[in-house]
Amino acid sequence: MSSKKDPDGMELGECTRNPGYQDEDGGGSVADNNACVPGEKEEDSAAVKLDSAEEYTQLKPYAGMPKEVLLLYSSQARYRVPREILFWLTVACTLTLVALTITVIALSPRCLSWWQVSPVYQIYPRSFKDSDGDGVGDLKGIQEKLDHFEYLNIKSIWISPFYRSPMKDFGYDVEDFRDIDPLFGTMEDFEELLAEMHSKGLKLIMDFIPNHTSDRHRWFNLSRTRDPHYEDYYVWTDCNASAPKPNNWVSVFGNSSWTYDEVRGQCYLHQFLKEQPDLNFRNEHVRKEMIDIIHFWLKKGVDGFRMDAVKHILEAAHLRDEPQVDPNKPPESITTEWDLYHDYTTSQLGLHDLLRGWRAEMDSYSREPGRYRFMVTESYDYHEVDKTMMYYGTPLVKESDFPFNFYLLDLPHNTSGLWVKHLVHLWMGNMPRGQWANWVVGNHDRPRIASSAGQTYIRVINMLLLTLPGTPTTYYGEEIGMENINVTDSQIQDPAGKYNASASRDPERSPMQWSNDMNAGFNNKTNTTWLPVHPDYRTINVEVQNSFTFSHVADAFIQSDLRKR
Ligand code: NOJ
Repeated sequence: MSSKKDPDGMELGECTRNPGYQDEDGGGSVADNNACVPGEKEEDSAAVKLDSAEEYTQLKPYAGMPKEVLLLYSSQARYRVPREILFWLTVACTLTLVALTITVIALSPRCLSWWQVSPVYQIYPRSFKDSDGDGVGDLKGIQEKLDHFEYLNIKSIWISPFYRSPMKDFGYDVEDFRDIDPLFGTMEDFEELLAEMHSKGLKLIMDFIPNHTSDRHRWFNLSRTRDPHYEDYYVWTDCNASAPKPNNWVSVFGNSSWTYDEVRGQCYLHQFLKEQPDLNFRNEHVRKEMIDIIHFWLKKGVDGFRMDAVKHILEAAHLRDEPQVDPNKPPESITTEWDLYHDYTTSQLGLHDLLRGWRAEMDSYSREPGRYRFMVTESYDYHEVDKTMMYYGTPLVKESDFPFNFYLLDLPHNTSGLWVKHLVHLWMGNMPRGQWANWVVGNHDRPRIASSAGQTYIRVINMLLLTLPGTPTTYYGEEIGMENINVTDSQIQDPAGKYNASASRDPERSPMQWSNDMNAGFNNKTNTTWLPVHPDYRTINVEVQNSFTFSHVADAFIQSDLRKR
């Protein structure tokens, strides 16, 4: 077979066999269409005169044509133009589709996570339900009462600390972060409770207490005896026994935040009780220990942490005196946290890095669907709302899902609509864009709202709490309008109350009022309860209210059900 060049210089076979080609009727072969068949090549090739492009293009395209011929065809305007139109149409359609998808995603409401769709219910475990009759609530007691949350439509339960503890601050003084206090039960009880909660679709949030340990914690004992590894686990400084005040810093519970330790011959810092020495977060081993503890509980399956007293975690290393609010006050009369500006003991540089690090650890456990681990920070910044908002993190670096919003605790000061509006706006107007609000009207540290605002307001306050945008937090008993108890001096249990009776938090920690049975159904085995039951328990209790359509419980139930719609 000889070959020729086409006008474009392409080498073309004179005669090309295409046995597979069928004409339109399906009958003809390539030979009928001017292609060669073996043995006829020279004569038939005369029929296929491919001298010029013009002639060549008069050929009909056929299947299996050689690439060169195909290219020749495809570059003709009648093929090229529709092809280009189709190509640009496809590009335009794809881009439109991508733009539409992005717009729809950006405009549609985000899927809400479990901590956004239900109020958070706080259980103070000493006071919720005592299963063994020792007068103190326990984990088995909580398990007995899980149906209460089903009735209330509540899915997220925060249980205040149940770690092993000498109970100087009722569990906020931790002796072992990996153990359960025998008063509350055992690790098996905890695991059973968690499993049952999960099987009922409930989430368990526990307290994480990074600022301090108990003075009975193993680390503190090793630190005061100067074990080389633990020596700097706490904040120590030189001082002497007769004047144990390296500076003017005061504890949240009153008086100096320094205590002289005879074993070590130095002072240690405690921003709360002297039995709660502050950990030294400038020590890398301490930072690592706390991360390991977070992992320990996340691996057990807990759904989130309420991070305690976070603003106190770091202190200025220079230990200079803090400025006095009233510079004219004699220094020796500075004994309360209200006397000082806490420039060196709270919200120090590095605090948010620590919290963001913990957040990242939690995120590594949040990847399975429905297993998001939630983080809420506790920090009372009073009128420094900007400081509170920093716990939300930045648009690029996540921190807590929300910091507690304590501003509604001020509701009772003035129950006018304008005041409510002001408090709501304080949060909504300062919250960073795209973040999620929350609302607190009571907890184990503050007087009960039904007492401070008055019973008449409890329904409207609960309604406000449950209808504002964001996640409400409700303290056990608020759903039935429980009130503070009166505690005589001899009955005081709270260490803060022992320093200053008016600061006692016992009144808001009385046993949950379940029924009008003995001890309000909190404990039906013995007549002991760690704090007195409120005398109004015969009329204010869950059983009575469940049977009453217009009760606080019914309100709470209906409203939290409405939130899901
Ligand atoms: C804040 C807790 O809510 C409070 O009860 C406790 O006494 C302090 N942190 C110290 O841990």
